Amino acid sequence: MVTYDLNLGWIADEEAGESMAKAFDNLVYERQKGVAGYFDLPKSSKAIVAEVKEYAASNEAVRDCDSVVVIGIGGSSLGAKAVDTMLRHKYPDAKSLLFLENPDPVDLQTKLSLIDKRKSIFLVISKSGTTVETMSIFKALIAYLGIDLEGEDKERIVAITDEGSALYRFADHHGMKTYTIAHNVGGRFSVLSSVGIVPLTIAGYDTGSLLCGAAGMVDRFFDAKEDHLLLKAAFIAANWHRYRMNVLFAYGAFLEDFTKWYVQLWGESLGKIDRCGNRVGPTPLGHIGSVDQHSFLQLVVQGPRDKSVTFVKVEDFENSLKIPDIRLEYIQKCDYVNGHTFNELINAECDATKESLRNEGVPVDSVILDRIDESNIGELILYYELLTSLVGSMLHINTYDQPGVEKGKRILVEKFKKSR
Ligand code: PA5
Repeated sequence: MVTYDLNLGWIADEEAGESMAKAFDNLVYERQKGVAGYFDLPKSSKAIVAEVKEYAASNEAVRDCDSVVVIGIGGSSLGAKAVDTMLRHKYPDAKSLLFLENPDPVDLQTKLSLIDKRKSIFLVISKSGTTVETMSIFKALIAYLGIDLEGEDKERIVAITDEGSALYRFADHHGMKTYTIAHNVGGRFSVLSSVGIVPLTIAGYDTGSLLCGAAGMVDRFFDAKEDHLLLKAAFIAANWHRYRMNVLFAYGAFLEDFTKWYVQLWGESLGKIDRCGNRVGPTPLGHIGSVDQHSFLQLVVQGPRDKSVTFVKVEDFENSLKIPDIRLEYIQKCDYVNGHTFNELINAECDATKESLRNEGVPVDSVILDRIDESNIGELILYYELLTSLVGSMLHINTYDQPGVEKGKRILVEKFKKSR
């Protein structure tokens, strides 16, 4: 179960009310007209889960591998990585997932040295099929692991991409297994498409339950049973000039990659030029409690009053590790937590920080998971995707494109051409 505590100290006026109604209608339109395809993934991807299970059972290389190597970047890796990090501790027998994302030579070489080709399968994931980081890393794998594209090694390679893309044609040419991505599902909204579902299912995660949790959120939202989403979106859209940053303060180390996914989802979706030519967009920041209470929090409390904070809290870590009831000479000051669980400590820290920020007048809200499980994670993903679409609609921008990042890509090509 996921609950939402939305007490931002803000009351929606008539204008915000109209904006909420329009944004809701706009999402209904986007869904009906297929402007964005992610709304339907929780149901349509169930077929992918079934197909992947069948494929994994019948293909020796996949069935017997220990490691699933994902080659992808941005929306093609962050979602699966976030789910993997959140669930890993519950799946001691899952195949390992190794993400090759960054063309950092030191990191890449270290990771390449960890791969045993005979025990791995390689998922090359790129919606466009031509992302230079992904394709360069794929080439490095082929060359340094001695992958024979004409021989049986190709059984170990799966391409996940748009139908007809350059990567699709490459895979088809070599007779490799492919999964496609619907044209209207953008990278950062694609975690519940083949992009996330294939690696997570092969690794052994219960992706059926992940999709169920997500489907429940979509159904309830369009049945007008999750209206808190509209209010939160309206708050962000109406106040982003004042509260220019939204800090996702997530309490739990296993939420770190989720905060990165959130930053990408918001950053690429909401930082845009609106229909009147204005530059708009709230800045997403990801922080982890309680460690970042000892770093970033000071800035929130006493720095410029330009941030809102969303706490993500997991009530039950399903872990009973305790702070031992030990007295250490001179350090008795810390004994007040003796005998309590670390679960109690981290959550009390979350509550205390939230209360202190609220007392300071910082707008705060919470997303509370009763525990980490597949269904709750599915709901959380949809919660953020729907929120992003609503804010985008209220800001009068195209949430689903990213023209800003294309400019740098063009300059990169020019630089390499000049250096030839
Ligand atoms: O969300 C997006 O569209 C981007 O972040 C892409 O996912 C990223 O640029 C990778 O693109 P591709 O999947 O085409 O390799």
